[in-house]
Amino acid sequence: MATRRALLLLSLLVLGGCFQQSGASTSKLLPSDYQTSYQLARTCQLSVAHNSNHMVVYANALAESDYLGGTYPLPQGSTIVTAETDQADCTGVTGYTLMFKEALGYNPTAGDWHWQKLDGQRDVLQDGRVQDCITCHASCGPYDYTCAH
Ligand code: HEC
Repeated sequence: MATRRALLLLSLLVLGGCFQQSGASTSKLLPSDYQTSYQLARTCQLSVAHNSNHMVVYANALAESDYLGGTYPLPQGSTIVTAETDQADCTGVTGYTLMFKEALGYNPTAGDWHWQKLDGQRDVLQDGRVQDCITCHASCGPYDYTCAH
C-alpha cells in the first residue's frame, strides 16, 4: 500500500513537472481574430530594425485613432502589434511583437508599456518590461515609444 502511494505521488510529481516544462503559453494580449477585430495601421513594409523582417502593423480600437492621428500618449488599453515574416509580401506570419498600454504605474519611466514577442502560434517568447524593446523604441522620438508612425 505504501509503495502504491509512493508511486502515485511520484507520478503526480513527474506529471506536474512535465506541465511546468511545457513552457510557452498563448498571449492573452493578442486575440486570434486580430486581423478582423483590429484596424490595419500600416501595410506590408520591410523593417530593418526588426531583424529585417517584413511587417504589417495593426492597432486595436482604443489605439487606432490616436495612433493613426499622431496624438500621444496613447490611452490605457491600447494595443499595437506587428505581424512579421521573412516573405516580402508579408504572407506566412512567423511571429509577432506587440505593445500593450498598461495602467499608470506599470513602468512609469518607459510609458507604462507592456512588451511581448510571440512566435507564429502567438506563444509568448519575451514578456513584460523588455529592455531591448524599450531602449530601441525610446530612440524613435517623442511618439510615446512608437516607431512606425
Ligand atoms: C533595434 C531597434 C528595435 C528593437 C530592438 C525593437 N524594435 Fe520594435 N520597432 C522598431 C522600429 C524602427 C519600428 C518601426 C518599423 C520600422 O520602420 O522598422 C518598430 C515597430 C514596432 C511596433 C509597431 C508599433 C510602433 O509604431 O512602434 C511594435 C508593436 C514593436 N516594434 C514592438 C517591439 C517589441 C515588442 C520589441 C522587443 C521584443 C521591439 N519592438 C524591439 C525598432 C525596434
